[in-house]
Amino acid sequence: MLNDQGYVAECTADNVFIVRKGVLLTPSATQGALQGITRGTVLDIGRELGGLVTEAELTRYDIWCADECFLTGTGAEVIPVVKLDGRVIGHGKPGPFTQRVGEAFRIRARTEGMRI
Ligand SMILES: Cc1ncc(COP(=O)(O)O)c(C=O)c1O
Repeated sequence: MLNDQGYVAECTADNVFIVRKGVLLTPSATQGALQGITRGTVLDIGRELGGLVTEAELTRYDIWCADECFLTGTGAEVIPVVKLDGRVIGHGKPGPFTQRVGEAFRIRARTEGMRI
C-alpha cells in the first residue's frame, strides 16, 4: 500500500522490507508503516547479523530495483517477495539475506519470544 504521498507504507497485514546493496530498508511509522512486533524483531536481527538497517522513504521503483524484498507479520513471519507488478525482484528467488533473517526469526520466535 502507498501513503498519500505515493511512498510505500506497508502491506495489508504485513510490513515490507527491501535489501539494497547490503542495507536493510523499511518504511517508517511516519510513512504509514505499523510498528509491528515482527518488524521490530527483524530490525533487531538485521543489526545483530551485522547489516546496516535503516528506515527510509521507499517508492515502488525502489522495490522493483531491490536486490531482495520480504514481508513480515505475525501470520506470515518472514516471507520472500520475488515479483511486484509483474517485475522480477533481484534474481526472482528468495535472497540470501532474506533466508538468513527468516531462519534467525524462526529460531527466535520459538525459543526466546518476540520483542514487544
Ligand atoms: C496493517 C498491518 N501492518 C503490519 C502488520 C504486521 O504486524 P505484526 O508483526 O505485529 O503482526 C499487521 C498485523 O496485523 C497489520 O495489520
